Amino acid sequence: MSARIVPACPPAIERAARLLRAGKLVAFPTETVYGLGADATDERAVAAIFAAKGRPRFNPLILHVPGLAEAEPLAVFDTRARALAAHFWPGPLSLVLPRRADSGLSLLAGAGLDTVAIRAPAHPVAQALLRGAGRPIAAPSANRSGRVSPTEAGHVVAELGDQVALILDGGRTPVGLESTVLDLTGATPALLRPGGVTLEELAAVLGPIAAAPTGPPRSPGLLASHYAPSLPLRLEATDARPGEALLAFGPDAPSGFAEVLWLSYKGDLAEAAANLFAMLRRLDRAPFTGIAVAPIPEHGLGRAINDRLRRAATPRPVR
Ligand code: TXA
Ligand code: MG
Repeated sequence: MSARIVPACPPAIERAARLLRAGKLVAFPTETVYGLGADATDERAVAAIFAAKGRPRFNPLILHVPGLAEAEPLAVFDTRARALAAHFWPGPLSLVLPRRADSGLSLLAGAGLDTVAIRAPAHPVAQALLRGAGRPIAAPSANRSGRVSPTEAGHVVAELGDQVALILDGGRTPVGLESTVLDLTGATPALLRPGGVTLEELAAVLGPIAAAPTGPPRSPGLLASHYAPSLPLRLEATDARPGEALLAFGPDAPSGFAEVLWLSYKGDLAEAAANLFAMLRRLDRAPFTGIAVAPIPEHGLGRAINDRLRRAATPRPVR
């Protein structure tokens, strides 16, 4: 297996942009997690993303653009959408908006929906790559479908190996959790996925926001089981069970665990978010019998951390 992983220096980014324009798959760092990118106007390139990830075709992809100017031809921005883009872009906020009929986007990228999720990532490597490619790039997280998202280039190698033409190594991704997905297609904004921009930050711009809707998922990717490690995950752990490893939060970790990794010793949610996926991967192995996680407060980034942990703890359906 020869995964082509290269440091994200300007010539490598230029090469990656050429590969994208030629319809190839390129993995690249964003401020949230590593993305698996393809030209969003090329149906075959987009189909290759679904194949590489083993992703169900009903689950649409997020489009990545450098900024609002490149987003406007693809989707219909109302006043709210423009205000949010002005405030949070580039950054970890994906907006679900009506797709423009003349957008030129692959229908598969949007899973046949008449809406699109779109964001401008803040990472300098992602920005340079998107400007070099000169077209919208569809990019889900660069992991096999249903598994933990990659926050280091090495994780992408482990997940997708040589199915990617090139992996740009930009080090660890600073936010560590995926973007917030906000649906603006209805009269009231709806939070479809908590993420790097917090509900509190959104509410400061928009006013109160509807809680995640109940019933069938409006964001098709929001299946109950996701981000799943191989070992069982036990949440809100306050005592040790034999053989378990612990993800601790705050200085007072209960004793008796086979191993302890601190999401954040000082109880900082941003630090915990940045560490979460890499630490889940590190503990997901023998000889541990399971992974226990200390309680994480349900505010700010804690909401997104707890969302991922709950999905990771949900048993996977038997296929
Ligand atoms: O931080 C991120 O958003 C990362 C980086 C690479 O940018 N990408 C990412 O993509 O997390 P992915 O494919 O793993 O998650 C995309 C989520 C899914 O839950 C999907 O269902 C939802 O966005 N989504 C995409 N298009 C949508 C649409 N038109 N309507 C509702 N949900 C949509
Ligand atoms: Mg994903």
